[in-house]
Formats: sequence, structure tokens, C-alpha cells
Amino acid sequence: IHPAQYEHLIVSVPQPGVQLIELNRPKALNALNSALISEINLATAAADRDGSIGAIVLTGSTSRAFAAGADIKEMKDKTFAEAYSEDFIANWNDLTRIRKPVLAAVNGYALGGGCELAMMADIIYAGDKAVFGQPEIKLGVIPGAGGTQRLPKLVGKVRATELILTGRNFSAVEAEKWGLVARIFPAEQLVDEVVKVAQEIAGYGGLAVKAAKESINEGLLVSLDEGLKYERKLFHGLFSTKDKVEGMTAFVEKRQASFKGE
Ligand code: CAA
Repeated sequence: IHPAQYEHLIVSVPQPGVQLIELNRPKALNALNSALISEINLATAAADRDGSIGAIVLTGSTSRAFAAGADIKEMKDKTFAEAYSEDFIANWNDLTRIRKPVLAAVNGYALGGGCELAMMADIIYAGDKAVFGQPEIKLGVIPGAGGTQRLPKLVGKVRATELILTGRNFSAVEAEKWGLVARIFPAEQLVDEVVKVAQEIAGYGGLAVKAAKESINEGLLVSLDEGLKYERKLFHGLFSTKDKVEGMTAFVEKRQASFKGE
């Protein structure tokens, strides 16, 4: 799909190596309907295949919302039979299969599915006025796109349970204190700052970056012993790359390394 054909996304390359994907359904506060999720999946998969891209930045609008959740109007009349037979929202998880780093830049509301979408990214950055929350309990349901699974892993079981059972919102400062958010920036500077981080990551060449992401995520699924073994195999594997030769040679020669992702 050509970038200009996305209905709900604005896709651009603000700096070499960085794919910026902006959710663009502002009137609905970027509520995540099926069409928007399909486009996110198409755009991130395309960036994952694109050899000129090293990192992906996912963001919403600067003022009001990253995303105010799954589209309640789309869900309102859906029956159990429909939700179950189509395996409703299972495809949201496709984002977690992207192998390049995905950085979420959250301004405004990241509620329900919006918070869950951010948690599927590898790193979350927040604007100083960002508002997070899992308010699904107020709609008679529970978080359905990872909230009950990822939030406890990121902020701890007790805190996550309180947030999910009360549905209360929390601030960027709380999110950073609890480890959900890596760093906070002034809202207007957030996207530029996150693009800078993405550009730095993209400059390291794809192989070590992909391997680092893969090793971290594998480690969260398996025992420490298995994770350490997995890490060591990837570490050894990287000794076969030109990037390893270049990185270590550049260090010894006291010059900047130039990575090719080979
Ligand atoms: N779905 C559909 N439409 C939404 C939406 C959502 N999640 N969130 C906001 N909108 C729409 C509103 O209906 C409104 O549209 P209209 O102008 O056509 O009425 C427009 O966006 C602007 O919203 P508000 O007028 O409500 O704006 P506000 O500033 O008064 O309030 C808000 C902002 C507090 C974020 C409020 O919109 C809100 O509470 N939204 C719903 C948040 C929520 O419950 N999210 C969880 C959804 S369930 C889920 O995500 C399930 C899951 O785990 C996958």
C-alpha cells in the first residue's frame, strides 16, 4: 500500500532510517477500530521489510490523544458469537511480531487499547501531559489486548490490579516512576526527541539491534538459565557479522563505526 493511501495513518521518514507512523483519526481521539489496526499492521510490516528503515516511531496527535482505546462504537453491538468467531482483536498482537524496535511516543490519552498498544512497543516515551489508564472495567469488560498481562509485568501485580479494578487514570510522572515509561519530554518536543532516539538506534545497523530486542523478549518468556543461553547464542552469532568487525575495529582505531547491517 502506498503511504498516501492510508486512511487513518500519516506515514513519513522524518530522519534517515526512521519510520514515523502517526495515528490520524483525531475526531475519535484515535479510537482503534479494525481499519486503523489493519493499517498499523500493514505500515509496521512494510517498515520491518524496508532495508532503509532501522526503527519505527508510533505516535498519535500532539494535543489530545495517542489513542482513547478500542472503538467503543464498533464494539457496542458485537455479540459473543461474533467476537469469538472472528477472534476479535487477536490481530492487534501482530505489532509484537515486528523485529525492528518500535518506540511509542505518547501525548494525551493512552486509555484502554491505547495504553495496551503503547505497551506492545519496545520503549514508551511520554509527553508531560500524557494520561494513561485501563478503564475497561467501567464498560463492563476487562482489558482485552494485553492490559491484564503486560501491565502487571511492567508496573507490578498489586499496582496493575488496582489500576485495572478501579479504572483510574494515571499520569506520565506516575508511569515513569513505575517503569512503564522510559522518559518524559515536554509535549511539543516529544516526537522530535523520540525520532532522535530512533535515529540513533537505526545508526547501529540492524543485526545487533534486532538480536538485542529478540533476546530481551525471549528472556521474558523463559527461565533465567534458558534466557542466558539464548542470549549467548545470539552474542556468538554476531561474531560472524561485518558489523562486529567494523564496530570493534573502529573502537581500536579510535574512529566512529559505520554499520551496514551485514
Ligand atoms: N471509542 C469510540 N469513540 C471514542 C472513544 C472510543 N474509545 N474515545 C473517544 N471517542 C470519541 C467520542 O465518542 C467523541 O465522538 P463524538 O464527537 O462523535 O461524540 C470524540 O471521540 C471525542 O471524545 P469526547 O467528546 O468524549 O472527549 P472528552 O475530551 O470529553 O473525553 C476521554 C475524552 C476521557 C478520552 C473520553 O473520550 C473517553 O472516556 N473515551 C473512552 C475511553 C475508554 O473507555 N477506552 C477504553 C475502550 S475499551 C478497550 O480499549 C478494550 C480493550 O482493551 C481492547
